[in-house]
Amino acid sequence: MSSTAIANIGELVTWADDEPVRRDAGLVIEDGRVAWVGSSRDLPASDDVVDAAGGAVIPGLVDSHTHLVFAGDRADEFVARMAGRRYTAGGIRTTVAATRAAGIDALRGLAAARMAELRAQGTTTVEIKSGYGLDVETEKQLLIVAGEITSETTFLGAHVVPDGMSADSYVELVTGDMLTACAPLATWIDVFCETGAFDVDQARTVLLAGRAAGLRPRMHANQLGPGPGVQLGCELGVAAVDHCTYLSDADVSALSDTGVVAGLLPGVEFSTRHPYPDARRLLDAGVRVAIATDCNPGTSFTSSMPFCIALAVREMGMTPTEALFAATQGGAWSLQREDVGHLRPGAKADLLILDAPSHVHLAYRPGVPLVRRVIDHPLLRSCESV
Ligand code: NIG
Ligand code: FE
Repeated sequence: MSSTAIANIGELVTWADDEPVRRDAGLVIEDGRVAWVGSSRDLPASDDVVDAAGGAVIPGLVDSHTHLVFAGDRADEFVARMAGRRYTAGGIRTTVAATRAAGIDALRGLAAARMAELRAQGTTTVEIKSGYGLDVETEKQLLIVAGEITSETTFLGAHVVPDGMSADSYVELVTGDMLTACAPLATWIDVFCETGAFDVDQARTVLLAGRAAGLRPRMHANQLGPGPGVQLGCELGVAAVDHCTYLSDADVSALSDTGVVAGLLPGVEFSTRHPYPDARRLLDAGVRVAIATDCNPGTSFTSSMPFCIALAVREMGMTPTEALFAATQGGAWSLQREDVGHLRPGAKADLLILDAPSHVHLAYRPGVPLVRRVIDHPLLRSCESV
């Protein structure tokens, strides 16, 4: 078993209880896991040494909500929105048409290119949803492509009702033949519970069918206006309700009481001109918060977790440390993962060396490519021989 030491770490973010952020630190990786964390001067001898040169080292970012597999773009919709038009869920059907026409090989290439973008910006764990197929064959294709990238695959057949079908017959398909075909390819089941997509009864039907097929539930809700989605998610004990832009006091209490994660997706508010979700209100109420990109062609075509961190700090009342926590540990909570999102001993050794002395720079220097090096499993293998 070989070991790799990271030396000369100016600031190390581990999220350990006693010292979550420490100065002048070192870290040792053995067998793809964090084996030791401590002061720079106590760094044990190792087979290889990577010099962080005073840069900050942080956990790899966890993007707990993306729609990476799709074809086409909707730049024209973005232009119209910036000129004042409102976003509606119906735009999803434009991407469905392009995605159905693309074929699996083209989809594979598009998703791989987007994944390279995410990773270059520090994402080492990603969740990927289907939802731009809305027929059995294409939904399967999207999950096959997603599964080639990540184990965090989500069946989102219930994204919107496709053209030419009634809502009732589509829910029957999603919970019947489509679920049978897609469940073996997915870890999670998701539904877009919103005006223009699925109502609360349809959402319940979809999530319960998914759970009966062995999938774990998560949701899109309360994105475009107040609604019953968050309450449904808390009643069912879903892992996360994502968006949470429009919340009542009762919604905030339910999230806090149940421990359901609130996934905040500030790229959406940037691109739709809706108000940003109030992260401060959620944190002050004791809600577990995650930040994710929601990378998709309609509401948030960004692959950058650092951009979302900067928005969360500037627009949502989070401190830089809270925002990074939500983009790492919060994402891990959302995906029910204990091995990522932190760098305590035993964690998967997914980490970033920044071209910056502190994680604060992720928000302080928005838009600047500060991820100098990504060390995760594939890179670790190659750096062992450096
Ligand atoms: O998460 N809210 C639903 N789905 C996406 C938007 C999809 C689209 O407009 O293409 C979202 O924002
Ligand atoms: Fe989404």
